[in-house]
Amino acid sequence: MKTNIFTPTFGNKPFRIIGRDDILQEFDEAISAPVGHPGRSMMLIGQRGTGKTALLLEFAERAQKKNYITAKVTANAQLLSDILQVIQSQGAKFVKGKKSISEVNTEVNIKGIGFSLGLTFNEETEKNYGFRIKLSLLLDKLSKYNKGVLLLVDEVQSSSDSIRELATTYQHLIGEEKNIAIVMAGLPSALSSVLNDKILTFLNRAKQIKMNPIPISEVRQFYQESFENNKQEISDKALEKAAKATQGFPYLLQLIGYQIERNCAGLKVISDQCVQSAIKEAKAALADSVFKPCLNPLSNQDIAFLQAMAKDKTYSCVDDIATRLKVNQGYVQMYRKRLLDAGVIAAPRRGIMTIIIPYLNEYLLQENFDLATF
Ligand SMILES: Nc1ncnc2c1ncn2[C@@H]1O[C@H](COP(=O)(O)OP(=O)(O)OP(=O)(O)O)[C@@H](O)[C@H]1O
Ligand SMILES: [Mg+2]
Repeated sequence: MKTNIFTPTFGNKPFRIIGRDDILQEFDEAISAPVGHPGRSMMLIGQRGTGKTALLLEFAERAQKKNYITAKVTANAQLLSDILQVIQSQGAKFVKGKKSISEVNTEVNIKGIGFSLGLTFNEETEKNYGFRIKLSLLLDKLSKYNKGVLLLVDEVQSSSDSIRELATTYQHLIGEEKNIAIVMAGLPSALSSVLNDKILTFLNRAKQIKMNPIPISEVRQFYQESFENNKQEISDKALEKAAKATQGFPYLLQLIGYQIERNCAGLKVISDQCVQSAIKEAKAALADSVFKPCLNPLSNQDIAFLQAMAKDKTYSCVDDIATRLKVNQGYVQMYRKRLLDAGVIAAPRRGIMTIIIPYLNEYLLQENFDLATF
Protein backbone atom coordinates (compact mmCIF):
# COMPACT_ATOMS: atom_id res chain seq x y z
CA MET A 1 0.00 0.00 0.00
CA LYS A 2 1.21 3.53 -0.81
CA THR A 3 2.30 5.56 2.16
CA ASN A 4 0.27 8.65 2.99
CA ILE A 5 2.34 11.65 1.86
CA PHE A 6 0.33 14.01 4.06
CA THR A 7 1.85 14.72 7.46
CA PRO A 8 -0.59 16.46 9.80
CA THR A 9 1.86 16.98 12.65
CA PHE A 10 3.61 20.09 13.85
CA GLY A 11 7.28 20.84 13.36
CA ASN A 12 8.03 18.55 10.42
CA LYS A 13 9.17 19.34 6.93
CA PRO A 14 6.33 18.55 4.53
CA PHE A 15 6.77 16.42 1.45
CA ARG A 16 6.61 19.66 -0.54
CA ILE A 17 6.42 23.32 0.51
CA ILE A 18 3.35 24.79 -1.18
CA GLY A 19 2.61 28.43 -1.88
CA ARG A 20 5.72 29.99 -0.40
CA ASP A 21 7.67 30.64 -3.60
CA ASP A 22 7.95 34.40 -3.00
CA ILE A 23 9.33 33.95 0.50
CA LEU A 24 11.76 31.26 -0.65
CA GLN A 25 12.99 33.45 -3.47
CA GLU A 26 13.52 36.33 -1.10
CA PHE A 27 15.41 34.05 1.27
CA ASP A 28 17.61 32.67 -1.54
CA GLU A 29 18.49 36.21 -2.58
CA ALA A 30 19.23 37.27 0.99
CA ILE A 31 21.65 34.45 1.72
CA SER A 32 23.39 34.96 -1.60
CA ALA A 33 23.70 38.70 -0.95
CA PRO A 34 26.93 40.19 0.40
CA VAL A 35 27.72 40.11 4.11
CA GLY A 36 25.71 42.74 5.99
CA HIS A 37 22.80 42.82 3.51
CA PRO A 38 19.65 43.86 5.45
CA GLY A 39 17.63 40.93 4.06
CA ARG A 40 19.91 38.59 6.02
CA SER A 41 17.74 39.10 9.08
CA MET A 42 14.18 37.89 8.72
CA MET A 43 11.27 37.30 11.00
CA LEU A 44 8.41 34.90 10.28
CA ILE A 45 5.19 35.85 12.01
CA GLY A 46 2.18 33.53 12.02
CA GLN A 47 -0.38 31.68 14.07
CA ARG A 48 -0.06 28.01 15.02
CA GLY A 49 0.03 25.75 12.00
CA THR A 50 0.81 28.42 9.42
CA GLY A 51 4.09 26.74 8.54
CA LYS A 52 6.82 28.69 10.33
CA THR A 53 8.83 25.66 11.41
CA ALA A 54 8.36 24.02 8.02
CA LEU A 55 9.88 27.09 6.38
CA LEU A 56 12.78 27.23 8.83
CA LEU A 57 13.61 23.62 7.97
CA GLU A 58 13.46 24.41 4.25
CA PHE A 59 15.64 27.49 4.81
CA ALA A 60 18.19 25.31 6.60
CA GLU A 61 18.36 22.89 3.71
CA ARG A 62 18.77 25.65 1.14
CA ALA A 63 21.39 27.49 3.17
CA GLN A 64 23.46 24.33 3.67
CA LYS A 65 23.71 24.03 -0.11
CA LYS A 66 25.05 27.58 -0.17
CA ASN A 67 27.90 27.02 2.25
CA TYR A 68 26.18 27.88 5.48
CA ILE A 69 26.37 26.03 8.74
CA THR A 70 22.84 26.19 10.14
CA ALA A 71 21.85 26.24 13.77
CA LYS A 72 18.13 25.66 14.29
CA VAL A 73 17.29 26.29 17.91
CA THR A 74 14.26 26.97 20.05
CA ALA A 75 14.13 30.21 22.00
CA ASN A 76 14.45 28.82 25.52
CA ALA A 77 16.68 29.64 28.47
CA GLN A 78 19.63 27.72 26.98
CA LEU A 79 19.29 29.46 23.64
CA LEU A 80 22.80 30.89 23.56
CA SER A 81 24.65 27.75 24.61
CA ASP A 82 22.48 25.73 22.23
CA ILE A 83 23.50 27.99 19.35
CA LEU A 84 27.20 27.51 20.09
CA GLN A 85 26.87 23.76 20.52
CA VAL A 86 24.87 23.27 17.33
CA ILE A 87 27.34 25.33 15.30
CA GLN A 88 30.21 23.32 16.77
CA SER A 89 28.61 19.99 15.99
CA GLN A 90 27.33 20.98 12.53
CA GLY A 91 30.54 22.73 11.57
CA ALA A 92 33.04 20.18 12.90
CA LYS A 93 33.05 18.03 9.80
CA PHE A 94 34.15 20.98 7.66
CA VAL A 95 37.02 22.02 9.86
CA LYS A 96 40.15 19.99 9.83
CA GLY A 97 41.39 18.76 13.18
CA LYS A 98 44.88 20.23 12.94
CA LYS A 99 45.54 23.89 13.56
CA SER A 100 47.03 25.80 10.64
CA ILE A 101 50.20 27.87 11.23
CA SER A 102 48.21 31.09 10.98
CA GLU A 103 45.76 29.86 13.61
CA VAL A 104 48.54 28.98 16.02
CA ASN A 105 49.98 32.47 15.49
CA THR A 106 46.62 34.13 15.97
CA GLU A 107 46.07 32.28 19.19
CA VAL A 108 49.42 33.35 20.56
CA ASN A 109 48.70 36.95 19.56
CA ILE A 110 45.40 37.12 21.34
CA LYS A 111 46.59 35.60 24.57
CA GLY A 112 45.24 32.14 24.50
CA ILE A 113 41.75 32.79 23.11
CA GLY A 114 40.83 30.16 20.60
CA PHE A 115 40.33 26.48 19.94
CA SER A 116 42.04 23.37 21.19
CA LEU A 117 41.06 21.32 18.16
CA GLY A 118 38.55 21.75 15.35
CA LEU A 119 35.72 23.86 16.74
CA THR A 120 36.29 22.90 20.36
CA PHE A 121 37.27 25.91 22.45
CA ASN A 122 40.42 25.69 24.54
CA GLU A 123 40.03 25.72 28.29
CA GLU A 124 40.85 29.41 28.65
CA THR A 125 38.15 30.39 26.15
CA GLU A 126 35.59 27.92 27.41
CA LYS A 127 35.91 29.21 30.97
CA ASN A 128 36.48 32.92 30.60
CA TYR A 129 34.62 34.17 27.57
CA GLY A 130 30.97 34.76 26.83
CA PHE A 131 28.61 34.18 23.97
CA ARG A 132 29.69 37.08 21.79
CA ILE A 133 33.40 36.21 21.75
CA LYS A 134 32.72 32.52 21.29
CA LEU A 135 30.32 33.04 18.41
CA SER A 136 32.74 35.48 16.84
CA LEU A 137 35.58 32.93 17.08
CA LEU A 138 33.41 30.27 15.49
CA LEU A 139 32.44 32.62 12.64
CA ASP A 140 36.07 33.54 12.01
CA LYS A 141 37.22 29.96 11.98
CA LEU A 142 34.37 28.80 9.75
CA SER A 143 34.95 31.66 7.33
CA LYS A 144 38.46 30.26 6.75
CA TYR A 145 36.69 27.25 5.32
CA ASN A 146 34.37 29.48 3.31
CA LYS A 147 31.40 28.81 5.58
CA GLY A 148 28.87 31.32 6.90
CA VAL A 149 26.42 30.73 9.74
CA LEU A 150 22.63 30.91 9.59
CA LEU A 151 20.79 31.05 12.92
CA LEU A 152 17.19 29.80 12.84
CA VAL A 153 15.43 30.67 16.08
CA ASP A 154 12.02 29.04 16.38
CA GLU A 155 9.24 29.68 18.87
CA VAL A 156 10.40 33.10 19.94
CA GLN A 157 8.09 33.69 22.86
CA SER A 158 8.92 36.91 24.56
CA SER A 159 11.59 39.42 25.00
CA SER A 160 13.72 37.15 27.17
CA ASP A 161 17.25 38.00 28.29
CA SER A 162 18.76 35.46 25.93
CA ILE A 163 16.91 36.88 22.91
CA ARG A 164 18.15 40.34 23.86
CA GLU A 165 21.71 39.15 24.14
CA LEU A 166 21.41 37.36 20.83
CA ALA A 167 20.02 40.50 19.20
CA THR A 168 22.76 42.72 20.58
CA THR A 169 25.46 40.24 19.62
CA TYR A 170 24.04 39.91 16.14
CA GLN A 171 24.14 43.66 15.71
CA HIS A 172 27.81 43.76 16.75
CA LEU A 173 28.75 40.91 14.48
CA ILE A 174 27.06 42.55 11.51
CA GLY A 175 29.03 45.70 12.32
CA GLU A 176 32.19 43.58 12.20
CA GLU A 177 31.12 42.26 8.79
CA LYS A 178 30.93 38.64 9.87
CA ASN A 179 29.25 36.15 7.59
CA ILE A 180 26.10 35.56 9.61
CA ALA A 181 22.35 35.59 8.93
CA ILE A 182 19.35 35.08 11.19
CA VAL A 183 15.71 34.06 10.84
CA MET A 184 13.41 34.19 13.85
CA ALA A 185 9.90 32.75 13.96
CA GLY A 186 7.04 33.14 16.39
CA LEU A 187 3.40 33.78 17.05
CA PRO A 188 2.12 37.28 16.34
CA SER A 189 1.50 37.91 20.05
CA ALA A 190 4.99 36.87 21.10
CA LEU A 191 6.68 38.86 18.43
CA SER A 192 4.74 42.00 19.09
CA SER A 193 6.16 42.11 22.61
CA VAL A 194 9.62 41.37 21.22
CA LEU A 195 9.25 44.19 18.76
CA ASN A 196 8.28 46.66 21.43
CA ASP A 197 11.60 46.15 23.12
CA LYS A 198 13.98 48.99 22.30
CA ILE A 199 17.02 46.75 22.47
CA LEU A 200 15.64 44.86 19.55
CA THR A 201 15.59 47.75 17.14
CA PHE A 202 17.65 45.64 14.80
CA LEU A 203 14.74 43.24 14.52
CA ASN A 204 12.52 46.11 13.53
CA ARG A 205 14.83 46.51 10.62
CA ALA A 206 14.59 42.82 9.85
CA LYS A 207 12.39 41.76 6.97
CA GLN A 208 9.07 40.84 8.57
CA ILE A 209 7.19 38.08 6.82
CA LYS A 210 3.56 37.36 7.61
CA MET A 211 2.53 33.76 7.09
CA ASN A 212 -0.48 34.45 4.88
CA PRO A 213 -2.84 31.70 3.68
CA ILE A 214 -1.66 29.62 0.74
CA PRO A 215 -3.62 30.41 -2.47
CA ILE A 216 -6.42 27.84 -2.90
CA SER A 217 -5.40 27.28 -6.54
CA GLU A 218 -2.01 26.01 -5.35
CA VAL A 219 -3.61 23.71 -2.78
CA ARG A 220 -5.92 22.33 -5.48
CA GLN A 221 -3.02 21.68 -7.82
CA PHE A 222 -1.02 19.92 -5.11
CA TYR A 223 -3.97 17.72 -4.18
CA GLN A 224 -4.60 16.88 -7.84
CA GLU A 225 -0.97 15.85 -8.38
CA SER A 226 -0.88 13.84 -5.17
CA PHE A 227 -4.01 11.87 -6.03
CA GLU A 228 -2.85 11.35 -9.61
CA ASN A 229 0.46 9.99 -8.33
CA ASN A 230 -1.57 7.61 -6.23
CA LYS A 231 -3.48 6.58 -9.37
CA GLN A 232 -6.73 7.80 -7.83
CA GLU A 233 -9.45 9.72 -9.62
CA ILE A 234 -11.34 12.64 -8.13
CA SER A 235 -14.01 14.87 -9.67
CA ASP A 236 -13.27 18.58 -10.17
CA LYS A 237 -16.09 19.37 -7.78
CA ALA A 238 -14.70 17.20 -4.99
CA LEU A 239 -11.19 18.50 -5.60
CA GLU A 240 -12.39 22.08 -5.37
CA LYS A 241 -14.33 21.29 -2.21
CA ALA A 242 -11.28 19.75 -0.52
CA ALA A 243 -8.98 22.62 -1.53
CA LYS A 244 -11.43 25.32 -0.44
CA ALA A 245 -12.03 23.63 2.90
CA THR A 246 -8.33 24.10 3.80
CA GLN A 247 -8.84 27.89 3.64
CA GLY A 248 -5.18 27.95 2.61
CA PHE A 249 -4.12 26.98 6.13
CA PRO A 250 -1.06 24.70 5.82
CA TYR A 251 -1.91 22.45 8.75
CA LEU A 252 -5.41 21.89 7.34
CA LEU A 253 -3.93 21.16 3.92
CA GLN A 254 -2.06 18.28 5.54
CA LEU A 255 -4.94 17.23 7.76
CA ILE A 256 -7.62 17.11 5.06
CA GLY A 257 -5.25 15.47 2.56
CA TYR A 258 -4.33 12.89 5.18
CA GLN A 259 -7.94 12.05 6.02
CA ILE A 260 -8.85 11.69 2.34
CA GLU A 261 -5.92 9.34 1.74
CA ARG A 262 -6.73 7.37 4.85
CA ASN A 263 -10.44 7.05 4.11
CA CYS A 264 -9.87 6.18 0.45
CA ALA A 265 -6.76 3.99 0.73
CA GLY A 266 -6.85 1.40 -2.03
CA LEU A 267 -9.88 2.91 -3.79
CA LYS A 268 -9.66 3.95 -7.46
CA VAL A 269 -12.09 6.82 -7.09
CA ILE A 270 -12.17 9.43 -4.34
CA SER A 271 -15.88 10.15 -3.89
CA ASP A 272 -17.54 13.40 -2.85
CA GLN A 273 -18.74 11.57 0.22
CA CYS A 274 -15.20 10.62 1.18
CA VAL A 275 -14.04 14.24 0.82
CA GLN A 276 -17.00 15.40 2.86
CA SER A 277 -16.22 13.10 5.79
CA ALA A 278 -12.49 13.85 5.58
CA ILE A 279 -13.27 17.56 6.01
CA LYS A 280 -15.51 16.81 8.98
CA GLU A 281 -12.83 14.68 10.66
CA ALA A 282 -10.16 17.27 9.99
CA LYS A 283 -12.27 20.04 11.52
CA ALA A 284 -12.87 17.94 14.62
CA ALA A 285 -9.12 17.44 15.03
CA LEU A 286 -8.54 21.22 15.05
CA ALA A 287 -10.03 21.61 18.52
CA ASP A 288 -7.09 20.12 20.39
CA SER A 289 -4.30 21.01 18.01
CA VAL A 290 -5.20 24.61 17.15
CA PHE A 291 -8.23 26.11 18.90
CA LYS A 292 -7.38 25.23 22.49
CA PRO A 293 -3.74 26.41 22.30
CA CYS A 294 -4.94 29.63 20.64
CA LEU A 295 -7.64 30.34 23.21
CA ASN A 296 -5.65 29.29 26.26
CA PRO A 297 -3.60 32.47 26.66
CA LEU A 298 -6.68 34.68 26.16
CA SER A 299 -8.87 36.08 28.93
CA ASN A 300 -12.57 35.25 29.34
CA GLN A 301 -13.39 38.73 28.03
CA ASP A 302 -11.24 38.13 24.94
CA ILE A 303 -13.10 34.90 24.29
CA ALA A 304 -16.51 36.52 24.88
CA PHE A 305 -15.50 39.19 22.37
CA LEU A 306 -14.58 36.50 19.84
CA GLN A 307 -17.88 34.74 20.46
CA ALA A 308 -19.71 37.98 19.70
CA MET A 309 -17.71 38.24 16.46
CA ALA A 310 -18.32 34.59 15.57
CA LYS A 311 -22.00 35.32 14.98
CA ASP A 312 -21.06 37.24 11.85
CA LYS A 313 -20.50 34.99 8.83
CA THR A 314 -17.68 37.02 7.32
CA TYR A 315 -16.77 40.40 8.79
CA SER A 316 -17.82 42.07 12.03
CA CYS A 317 -18.45 45.81 12.40
CA VAL A 318 -17.04 47.48 15.51
CA ASP A 319 -20.42 49.14 16.14
CA ASP A 320 -22.33 45.83 16.01
CA ILE A 321 -19.96 44.22 18.51
CA ALA A 322 -20.38 47.16 20.88
CA THR A 323 -24.17 46.75 20.68
CA ARG A 324 -24.04 42.98 21.02
CA LEU A 325 -21.80 43.09 24.10
CA LYS A 326 -23.53 46.19 25.49
CA VAL A 327 -20.19 47.98 25.86
CA ASN A 328 -18.79 51.30 24.70
CA GLN A 329 -16.47 51.98 21.77
CA GLY A 330 -13.42 52.28 24.05
CA TYR A 331 -13.96 48.73 25.32
CA VAL A 332 -14.27 47.40 21.78
CA GLN A 333 -11.13 49.21 20.66
CA MET A 334 -9.15 47.78 23.58
CA TYR A 335 -10.18 44.16 22.89
CA ARG A 336 -9.80 44.65 19.17
CA LYS A 337 -6.18 45.67 19.78
CA ARG A 338 -5.55 42.75 22.17
CA LEU A 339 -6.86 40.21 19.70
CA LEU A 340 -5.02 41.80 16.79
CA ASP A 341 -1.78 41.50 18.79
CA ALA A 342 -2.63 37.90 19.57
CA GLY A 343 -2.97 37.24 15.84
CA VAL A 344 -6.48 35.81 16.22
CA ILE A 345 -8.30 38.53 14.28
CA ALA A 346 -7.45 40.87 11.43
CA ALA A 347 -8.77 44.35 10.72
CA PRO A 348 -8.77 44.70 6.95
CA ARG A 349 -10.46 48.10 7.05
CA ARG A 350 -11.33 50.74 9.61
CA GLY A 351 -14.25 49.61 11.75
CA ILE A 352 -14.20 46.06 10.32
CA MET A 353 -12.73 42.92 11.93
CA THR A 354 -12.57 39.24 11.11
CA ILE A 355 -11.47 36.05 12.87
CA ILE A 356 -8.54 34.63 10.92
CA ILE A 357 -8.22 31.14 12.37
CA PRO A 358 -10.14 28.79 10.10
CA TYR A 359 -13.33 27.36 11.63
CA LEU A 360 -12.71 28.99 15.00
CA ASN A 361 -16.05 30.81 14.69
CA GLU A 362 -17.93 27.49 14.32
CA TYR A 363 -16.09 26.14 17.34
CA LEU A 364 -16.90 29.20 19.47
CA LEU A 365 -20.60 28.89 18.64
CA GLN A 366 -20.89 25.18 19.48
CA GLU A 367 -23.60 24.50 22.00
CA ASN A 368 -21.27 22.60 24.28
CA PHE A 369 -18.53 25.26 24.15
CA ASP A 370 -17.33 25.70 27.70
CA LEU A 371 -15.48 28.87 28.64
CA ALA A 372 -14.41 27.28 31.91
CA THR A 373 -12.03 24.92 30.08
CA PHE A 374 -9.76 27.80 29.02
N1 LIG B 1 4.00 25.60 2.80
C1 LIG B 1 3.53 24.42 3.22
N2 LIG B 1 3.10 23.50 2.34
C2 LIG B 1 2.62 22.32 2.77
N3 LIG B 1 2.55 21.95 4.04
C3 LIG B 1 2.95 22.82 4.97
C4 LIG B 1 3.47 24.09 4.61
N4 LIG B 1 3.82 24.76 5.72
C5 LIG B 1 3.52 23.92 6.75
N5 LIG B 1 3.01 22.78 6.30
C6 LIG B 1 2.54 21.67 7.16
O1 LIG B 1 1.61 22.24 8.10
C7 LIG B 1 1.81 21.70 9.40
C8 LIG B 1 2.10 22.83 10.37
O2 LIG B 1 3.31 23.46 10.02
P1 LIG B 1 4.38 24.00 11.09
O3 LIG B 1 4.61 22.97 12.15
O4 LIG B 1 5.56 24.47 10.33
O5 LIG B 1 3.55 25.22 11.69
P2 LIG B 1 4.04 26.32 12.73
O6 LIG B 1 3.65 27.64 12.16
O7 LIG B 1 5.48 26.12 13.04
O8 LIG B 1 3.13 26.01 13.99
P3 LIG B 1 3.47 26.28 15.56
O9 LIG B 1 3.28 27.75 15.79
O10 LIG B 1 2.46 25.47 16.30
O11 LIG B 1 4.86 25.81 15.84
C9 LIG B 1 2.93 20.69 9.28
O12 LIG B 1 2.34 19.41 9.13
C10 LIG B 1 3.65 21.08 8.01
O13 LIG B 1 4.23 19.97 7.37
MG1 LIG C 1 6.46 25.57 14.78
